Amino acid sequence: MAAAAVPAVRCSLLQRRPLRCGPGLRPVPGGGAALRLCSTRVAREGINKPVIDRIIRVDHAGEYGANRIYAGQMAVLGRSSVGPVIQQMWNQEKIHLKKFNELMVAYRVRPTVLLPFWNVAGFVLGAGSALLGKKGAMACTVAVEESISEHYNNQIRTLIEEDPEKYKELLQVIKQFRDEEQEHHDIGLEHDAEATPAYSVLKTAIQLGCKAAIFLSERI
Ligand SMILES: [Fe+2]
Ligand SMILES: [Fe+2]
Repeated sequence: MAAAAVPAVRCSLLQRRPLRCGPGLRPVPGGGAALRLCSTRVAREGINKPVIDRIIRVDHAGEYGANRIYAGQMAVLGRSSVGPVIQQMWNQEKIHLKKFNELMVAYRVRPTVLLPFWNVAGFVLGAGSALLGKKGAMACTVAVEESISEHYNNQIRTLIEEDPEKYKELLQVIKQFRDEEQEHHDIGLEHDAEATPAYSVLKTAIQLGCKAAIFLSERI
């Protein structure tokens, strides 16, 4: 439930005493209202913390996984004709990941415990699809980016339903990244992703994996 009724004075107290909000730190005498806010882990004025935690955690995991996929593809196809195209998409994923790293700190969100698993799984998916050839790598890109675009669209709907003004910054980030993931998807199609043997089977399998990854990363 959104804590929309938090008076401004409490937030100014919170901003003056940021160190008291750290995990494991105990209330000090005179902390008053600011400490009550800390104990409920509200780091920003009136946000719906469980919703924002889930959104930032899963998006960070997704961008981390995307980076590992492109790393895997580059390990196999880096010197081929599609190397620069993959590198260009990877560069954008690096910016996406950096942004979510910053947002995790700003909103005090912990990463998913599954990061070590996504590290390996992402690289294996990227390298494995690239071993099928350039079209295989692009089929993987189309499948993953379509899932991520759809996922970002769902989050945009959620944040607009919550409060578009309150989540303006986050909405702006997610909308921009959604557009860039959509571009990656289109680049994949332009590079003959659909000509991969068993394209629809491959795409369905990868997208099932993406759904499972999203489900898990939102929760643990
Ligand atoms: Fe991304
Ligand atoms: Fe992407």
